Amino acid sequence: MKLSTKYLGLDLKNPIIAGASPLSFSVSTAVRLEQAGAAAIVMHSLFEEQIDRQITQNERSNFQYTPEQYVQLLRSLKKELSIPVIASLNSVREGAWVRYAQYLQDAGADALEINLYFLPRTDTDSSSIVEQRAFQIIRLVRQFVSIPISVKISPWITSLPQFTQRMEEAGASGLVLFNRFIQPDIDIETFKTVTRLDLSTPDALLLRLHWLAALYSRTRMDLSASGGIHSAQDVVKAIVSGATSVQCVSALLQNGPDYVKTLLDGLSEWLERHNFSSVDEARENVDSLRKDADKASGRDNYIRMIHSWEQSKE
Ligand SMILES: Cc1cc2nc3c(=O)[nH]c(=O)nc-3n(C[C@H](O)[C@H](O)[C@H](O)COP(=O)(O)O)c2cc1C
Repeated sequence: MKLSTKYLGLDLKNPIIAGASPLSFSVSTAVRLEQAGAAAIVMHSLFEEQIDRQITQNERSNFQYTPEQYVQLLRSLKKELSIPVIASLNSVREGAWVRYAQYLQDAGADALEINLYFLPRTDTDSSSIVEQRAFQIIRLVRQFVSIPISVKISPWITSLPQFTQRMEEAGASGLVLFNRFIQPDIDIETFKTVTRLDLSTPDALLLRLHWLAALYSRTRMDLSASGGIHSAQDVVKAIVSGATSVQCVSALLQNGPDYVKTLLDGLSEWLERHNFSSVDEARENVDSLRKDADKASGRDNYIRMIHSWEQSKE
């Protein structure tokens, strides 16, 4: 049974990556992830706000790591692990994107995940201007570093197929679908906002499956699913929808690093039961499923679905 796959030109022994999160805070957790079978680890993001010397001590205490500590951790992870270590950067200014991308490359990162987190707040920035900014960041980082680059994006893009094509042209090798935005709730008794970092549920996966299926044949970039991978069945769904890898966070935070093995065992069992000799074979053989999945979210099906609600009550 061949579980190996390629992601960003890196050889992965299987498709399961520990995604950007506190799972990379300690080297011992990362070692346990590797022992359980994780094929790569994406570090939590280094934020420009951590780098900016102007921020107050109080604001600084929001961050676990200074850039120097982040790089130190990256070096330790590289020393103790044999799987690829992917650094994650979330910056604002173009200069900082370039400088810190180089810094992370020099510290030994096998690849760089560009974590795009834009929240347009002005009424002067058109969607095109916001998107141009993203392409410019990718182009700049591509120009100044040689390690492969993936881009983690939000689903809230007006025309994702074209956006995807432009990211590829700008130099990205992989696309991570999707980032999760913080969505603060409102307490109507205390009149305060309530910000919680909830872990995901498998419901988050459906949006990812839709876009994986829609983008797979439209890009040469490797697609990585992030969001809602909680079981081996979820891993299979992401793969047959077009992902070459999946990034798992909430399920590993909930069940512990050893859960990677459960996911891998379930994946192997499914491949065997369906007579696939490799993950790649499974993905390539279900082209019709992907086309159906892509069609299933189209207008025709939308109209049929909303009408079938009334009919189901008759
Ligand atoms: C506690 C926590 C911390 C996270 N930190 C980061 C981060 O630093 N950078 C990033 O790109 N994503 C971060 N994420 C998002 C995850 O990488 C992932 O995209 C998201 O949780 C969806 O995957 P899941 O459904 O497997 O949890 C974080 C998520 C959690 C739960």
